[in-house]
Amino acid sequence: METNKKTMLSGIQPSGDLHLGNYLGAIKNWGGRSEDYDCFYFMADLHAITVRQNPADLRRRTLTQLATYIACGLDPEKNTLFIQSHVRQHAELGWVLNCYTMFGELSRMTQFKDKSKKNADNINGGLFTYPSLMAADILLYQPDFVPVGADQKQHVELCRNIVQRFNGVYGDVFKMPEFYSTKEGARVMCLTEPANKMSKSAPEGCVFLLEKPEDIARKFKRAVTDSDTEHCVRYAPEEKPGVSNLMNIYAAVTGKTMDEIEREFDGQGYGAFKPAVGEAVIELLRPIREETERILADKAYLESVYKNGAERASYVAEKTLRKVYKKVGFIPR
Ligand code: TRP
Repeated sequence: METNKKTMLSGIQPSGDLHLGNYLGAIKNWGGRSEDYDCFYFMADLHAITVRQNPADLRRRTLTQLATYIACGLDPEKNTLFIQSHVRQHAELGWVLNCYTMFGELSRMTQFKDKSKKNADNINGGLFTYPSLMAADILLYQPDFVPVGADQKQHVELCRNIVQRFNGVYGDVFKMPEFYSTKEGARVMCLTEPANKMSKSAPEGCVFLLEKPEDIARKFKRAVTDSDTEHCVRYAPEEKPGVSNLMNIYAAVTGKTMDEIEREFDGQGYGAFKPAVGEAVIELLRPIREETERILADKAYLESVYKNGAERASYVAEKTLRKVYKKVGFIPR
């Protein structure tokens, strides 16, 4: 895939099942990009083991994530879809970049601080140097843009610092990547605590993409709405974060505007609104779930997709890695 299109790259860790936030905020928008960009999307399994994983679950989630990417419209012919650990160059460049990343920089990463608090019994070296590996993921493919959520911006900034430092010593080796805010995607909040981003760590407030319709319906029925007295469906993110989050979800799923939604539920209160959002999400996810299950059952196909993807990715990654090895003074074998 060598064209003069611009390049994009992004990854998601298979450390939890994909949820509505991943879909509406990211994956939904990935499919349509392949016309204009060379796109690389991967399952960040090397990153996932910075937190202890059950091996069987990690395997299942990695393959399910790949099948879901495809079910969400990412055509493996038009996008390079691969599993991070299949492309050894990630770990190799990650090591090199570790030596160009400062202890102080890594210490300032808010994700490291958060995860250290949550995993106080396993604050390992990988968790600390996670951003150097992420920089390697990015720089191997010389992308123009890295579409990620706001929580990853600091890591992309660090990657840019590494580029500056490395290129400052060795010349123009890496292309400077830009953070690409996924603002066209909806920011989906937790259904039970709408102040927080939707996350697998609060499962009752999180709608998983492959979840059963009855479970989705239950979660929406129990979604917290706001304790104001007017009790009407009105978009006001500050005053009414719960209702506004449901409206965001409904808008993202149906394409309706906030005005249209307010009119649709005028005079009906939350009792009618919450199940309606649930129904819309159930219908959105039904074909994704069915298609994911169909693809997962076809092991040979899935294997051919990740093998092809790894081959294409390695080809590009190896070119960058060779250049880097040469620049830093390693003897070619
Ligand atoms: N750190 C990202 C996350 O937790 C996942 C990731 C790993 C990634 N490597 C990447 C994202 C490279 C974009 C580019 O969401």
